[in-house]
Amino acid sequence: MTNNPLRDPRDRRLPRIAGPCSIVLFGVTGDLARKKLIPAIYDLANRGLLPPGFALVGFARRDWEDGTFAELMREAAKAGARTPWNETVWEQLSAGIRFVPGAFDDDEAWVRLATTLRELDQQQGTGGNHAFYLSIPPGLFPTVVSKIDQHKLAVADQGWRRVVVEKPFGNDLASAKDLNQLIGNVFEDDQVFRIDHYLGKETVQNILALRFANQLFEPVWNSNYVDHVQITMAEDIGIGSRAGYYDGIGAARDVIQNHLLQLLALVAMEEPVSFDAASLRVEKQKVLASVRPPTDLDRHTSHAQYTEGWAGGEEVPGYLQEDGIGVKSRTETFAAIRLDIENRRWAGVPFYLRAGKRLGRRVTEVAVVFKRAPHLPFEHIDVTELGHNALVMRIQPDEGVTMRFGAKVPGTAMEIRDVNMDFVYGGSFVESSPEAYERLILDVLLGDPPLFPQHTEVELAWQILDPIIKHWSRKRRIDKYPAGSWGPQSAIDMLAADGRTWRRP
Ligand code: BG6
Repeated sequence: MTNNPLRDPRDRRLPRIAGPCSIVLFGVTGDLARKKLIPAIYDLANRGLLPPGFALVGFARRDWEDGTFAELMREAAKAGARTPWNETVWEQLSAGIRFVPGAFDDDEAWVRLATTLRELDQQQGTGGNHAFYLSIPPGLFPTVVSKIDQHKLAVADQGWRRVVVEKPFGNDLASAKDLNQLIGNVFEDDQVFRIDHYLGKETVQNILALRFANQLFEPVWNSNYVDHVQITMAEDIGIGSRAGYYDGIGAARDVIQNHLLQLLALVAMEEPVSFDAASLRVEKQKVLASVRPPTDLDRHTSHAQYTEGWAGGEEVPGYLQEDGIGVKSRTETFAAIRLDIENRRWAGVPFYLRAGKRLGRRVTEVAVVFKRAPHLPFEHIDVTELGHNALVMRIQPDEGVTMRFGAKVPGTAMEIRDVNMDFVYGGSFVESSPEAYERLILDVLLGDPPLFPQHTEVELAWQILDPIIKHWSRKRRIDKYPAGSWGPQSAIDMLAADGRTWRRP
């Protein structure tokens, strides 16, 4: 064998390729399947990470043949693919595409599904390995999970069976427990893969690399040096066509319960013994169990709804004017909360979380804001110009890390001003980052669980949010903020009460 002269000899990475298997997709007609899942499956195939014996089965109440379904999937893949289009790759993939028509409660359709899976094992060599991907509204979970059980699809004579669960993982602690029990009655823990797509993002995984692969940051990662932490997930989009899902759910349940609390856990947890799933989960659970919701819920939380305003140079309607939203809806499209972590490392360091739709621009970041230097040995210096040092992990866009510190302004006087030092992913690595769903789907097929939250984590997260959401539900009115702004006055006041301000991302 000749060596590839272009390959860096230090690069020992071997691609992890899934073994023969199928994905049975429930919710193929939904937005998520079309925009994210199907393109990610194509991208995996195009990167050579799916085996020849791979199959994709759609199950829905549509009058489609295999060919019609394959054609629709082709359009979705082509529209959303990250990697270049390759017709040969698609042709290979479409040889394993099947469609099972029927309602989720129709036993005959389930018999057809079971037959289809057996045929695929013969024709495509999927070897009895099948993942059931539930990208469906929560109300349909009991039906689908009990039919999987009734038709004996959760256990295999040979090969493996897995279930992939998309959020929302319940609506509060009680419903999350019910859901976990429902799934737990049919599947073993190691068969269940709960998707929090933030954990599939390269920049989110980089939080652990930054903290635990370096010597520089960990010594100052505690209450001796850190003043507070800000976790922001701002979106410029409104709710678009998702009224049916979003109304009654709101920002806290939609993204704080999962994405933002997972970010908090990764930033605040102790170093795990190793990076296997069990060790990671133990540390995340420990930190989530130490989180205390605010005692003064009026002062340390804020929730609000966007009104009409401007986004991307266009005039946009307010939340109550969006299609499908009732004029009296009190669902929050913005939420901010202060959380405290009661352990030795973080006592006295508030974590401020905020998330919202129709904000100034799309940005997700974690900013670790340090205490000021205890003493500044410069005379006549205007310290108000000098902010706190900060380490900002930019999750998206402009993926990277920024360090903010004071530097001398060129000139004869000792004038000091804040500057930024930047690491940008695109500048340091030539490869573009895979989409979160590519990584997560591949991990499901490989049976690799570290990036999937376990039921205890989900329940701990609800335990944190439940009192806050309950408090908001008792209020008669909800604050407002104009689309295109950075949220309501109450969020600004919330930090001002602590003598702090939000970063302008
Ligand atoms: C989803 C939420 O989990 O994340 C959406 O349900 C949100 O409301 C989306 O728009 C944002 O994902 P990303 O990857 O664009 O930050």
